Amino acid sequence: MSSEKKFKHFQETDKLAELGGGEERIKKQHAAGRKTARERLFDLLDPSTFAEIDKFVTHRSTDFDMDKQKFLGDGVVTGYGKIDGRLVYVFAQDFTVFGGSLSRANADKIVKIMDLAMKMGAPVIGLNDSGGARIQEGVESLGGYADIFYRNVMSSGVIPQISAILGPCAGGAVYSPAITDFIMMVKDTSYMFVTGPDVIKTVTHEEVTKDELGGAMTHNSKSGVAHMMAENDEQAMMMLRELMSFLPSNNMEDPPIKVCTDSIHREDDNLDTIVPDDPNKPYDMQEIIISIVDDKHFFEIQPYYAKNIIVGFARLGGKPVGIVANQPAVLAGVLDIDSSIKAARFVRFCDAFNIPLITFEDVPGFLPGTTQEFGGIIKHGAKLLYAFAEATVPKLTVITRKAYGGAYDVMSSKHIGADMNFAFPTAEIAVMGPEGAVNIIYRNKLSETEREKAIEDYRLTFASPYKAAALGFIDEIIRPRDTRKKLIQALEMTRTKSKVNPAKKHGNIPL
Ligand code: HXC
Repeated sequence: MSSEKKFKHFQETDKLAELGGGEERIKKQHAAGRKTARERLFDLLDPSTFAEIDKFVTHRSTDFDMDKQKFLGDGVVTGYGKIDGRLVYVFAQDFTVFGGSLSRANADKIVKIMDLAMKMGAPVIGLNDSGGARIQEGVESLGGYADIFYRNVMSSGVIPQISAILGPCAGGAVYSPAITDFIMMVKDTSYMFVTGPDVIKTVTHEEVTKDELGGAMTHNSKSGVAHMMAENDEQAMMMLRELMSFLPSNNMEDPPIKVCTDSIHREDDNLDTIVPDDPNKPYDMQEIIISIVDDKHFFEIQPYYAKNIIVGFARLGGKPVGIVANQPAVLAGVLDIDSSIKAARFVRFCDAFNIPLITFEDVPGFLPGTTQEFGGIIKHGAKLLYAFAEATVPKLTVITRKAYGGAYDVMSSKHIGADMNFAFPTAEIAVMGPEGAVNIIYRNKLSETEREKAIEDYRLTFASPYKAAALGFIDEIIRPRDTRKKLIQALEMTRTKSKVNPAKKHGNIPL
């Protein structure tokens, strides 16, 4: 065959590979409001940076006449490219080929890029759109999933692993994402379930729609499995690019610094009036966060789940930080099971990837009640305590109002290793609120007037930052308007922090 013919053959084969399951199926994918694997990668990566690997791989199965149905690439597009000029490894499952299901050959392609990512120390982003294990391949496919799960676990805490769920994902297609650091879902077109509505109906006789069972809102607001939600595929890719801008490529690097055009000396006098005089009146902690961070830009994680705690990324003086904040506007900012788990996982991610932690605290304590106790608030609350205590990244805390009881200890207190602890003059640091304290100390021994006075006395003596400041548990009482510059100054001071926990195989976090 002449070179000309060989090139022509190559061009035709290459074109065929790019068509995945064919034009008809691509049309079906578009009609369902979803992009193809290649279109998604085009949106995700910097222009002209995608290098594909294993484009001509096909499956090797022969059962169920599978040898007569082969598609180049076998239902997953893999390779590497760049986001903001930084290397990332990617795989994008192609639903047009056997529903993006995972064959042995398909798993081998994913495993190959996961191994490369670990060797080079770069993140892996998985775009999932798959019906799970390829049913025709049986245990070969299950083995393929296990190979991926194993690498997910080995890579955890070494390189960031990010998952987008962009179609109906079942079985193994949800367990791999579950081990990764962040899960993005898309409204109305993405689903996650171990098993779908039909099987549920047969086994438990429950009737549930696909959306109720595993839609984007279900996992973003109810189960807490997902961390982000986009309106469509394109927005999902933009959000992933933004998320990546806060993260280092691996656990040996610091997160990328951006040029900061927002003055590091900026004061905001509105901050002096955000915390209401009435300690029982709610206010929005988001306002404080947004006022303080660079360019008022806060990238919130899990904004729909356990809203009594806020977590997310921002920059201070150009440096990425992880923010954990009680939200007094929701359930008075109380710590419960869901908020403890949400924050603990975020704290551990930041610690694993060298992202300093900034904590804003206004917490009346742990939520009392049988639902919480029976649900295991003791062990779940302990997760947050554990996560903050073991974190060795710079830790800065600002108490804006209430820091009561165990929650004072948990929320990055001095005692569990915070580097700088600030308090607003409005802070109330005590074992409990004045009313509860007086009720217990005096029981029913006081008249109503005496009780009112005792509450006021308690408030003045104990419900302030001064006792804690006198003991050195608070390093500085600051004017709220100065918070930004104080935090940036402290962040700069902790830049060279070197803290190593005792050597161990691993700790035993209360799971
Ligand atoms: C092979 C599959 C497939 C699979 C879908 N397809 N899932 N082929 N193995 N797992 C094929 C379909 O046969 C169909 O082919 C095409 O993909 C599109 O699927 P549809 O059903 O037409 O699409 P839709 O109606 O959108 O439904 C998507 C779906 C459904 C919800 C994903 O296909 C489904 O329920 N699939 C099976 C899910 C599942 O039970 N997977 C195994 C999980 S066990 P044609 O040629 O007809 O267009 C698992 C074990 C891992 O993963 C272990 C974890 C710990």
